[in-house]
Amino acid sequence: MVVASAPAKVILFGEHFVVHGEPAIVVAIDKRVYAKVELRTDDKIHVISKNLNIAGSFNDGSFTVEVGDPQAARLKLEPIKCAAEKIMEACGKRKGLDIEIYSEIPASAGLGSSAAVASAVAAAVGAALKSHLSKEEIFKASLEAEKIVHEMPSGVDSAITTFGGALLFRLNSKFERLTLEAELPLIIADTGIKRSTKDQILKVYALKERHPRIFQLMRNVLREIVLEAAEALQEGDLNILGELMNLNHALLYGLGVSNDSLEQLINAAKKAGALGAKLTGAGGGGCIIALADGLNAEKVLKAVQEAGGNAFIAHKTNDGVRVEHE
Ligand code: PMV
Repeated sequence: MVVASAPAKVILFGEHFVVHGEPAIVVAIDKRVYAKVELRTDDKIHVISKNLNIAGSFNDGSFTVEVGDPQAARLKLEPIKCAAEKIMEACGKRKGLDIEIYSEIPASAGLGSSAAVASAVAAAVGAALKSHLSKEEIFKASLEAEKIVHEMPSGVDSAITTFGGALLFRLNSKFERLTLEAELPLIIADTGIKRSTKDQILKVYALKERHPRIFQLMRNVLREIVLEAAEALQEGDLNILGELMNLNHALLYGLGVSNDSLEQLINAAKKAGALGAKLTGAGGGGCIIALADGLNAEKVLKAVQEAGGNAFIAHKTNDGVRVEHE
């Protein structure tokens, strides 16, 4: 029996625009998904997701549900099967598997839970098959699974959950590791509204089509924000970072991916003294992040909780995907 885990993430800067080729800054945080994998004696791939309360098995192209609505269960479990199969292909070995998922990361909230599940499963399957996989191979399998979930992911979620730390990410090119000078006291608050990343991405594509020149100008502004933010992060300048988060949020608001619940949490965080706040991930619900200096973090946390957010203080982790025990 093998257990592997992978971290959640927050996009500090650049969501949505990253899908269109702009850079993004992303940080892995200390909440993880755990995948337990055992080899079976038959060919089935059997998957249980504890948190989503769904279970079923794949056998020769057909799916049998055990717990949950059959269609919804298949939709959620298919990417997990895909990550496992991609790894088996890479190892040149094919086995039946029992896969069990347990997650500390809220789903559909902008914290990258689907990519973390895929990376943890990929690593666990590799270890169960006694194959020494590179992180690059795990990243590729996780990205294939993400393509089933979102159709057109930038790959930022799969990259950060696999490699950990902080990354300056660009579509189709090598990402750069960022070293952060200061502790980043981040408060994360979840509106509790589940949304589809794919729908939010499509909304932005539609806006781009209606206003191509304006979208281009917004992209240029965003690029400057990200590049300045990368410098501020490496210098540990929290005041500048906060300001840049507010500017980035203004662009996301302009794209139409914010909503009342997100705005309420952002305003509460700022009133309580946050240096900056923005939605994180696809928007339309999900989470906001707020940056506070060390002394103010608890105050900001309390304020967003009182405003209705399910909130916690997050810490950066350098640990990407890892095998816990085999
Ligand atoms: O909300 P999430 O965690 O699925 O993040 C989506 C980030 C986007 O930029 C909107 C999409 C992507 O694939 O980069």
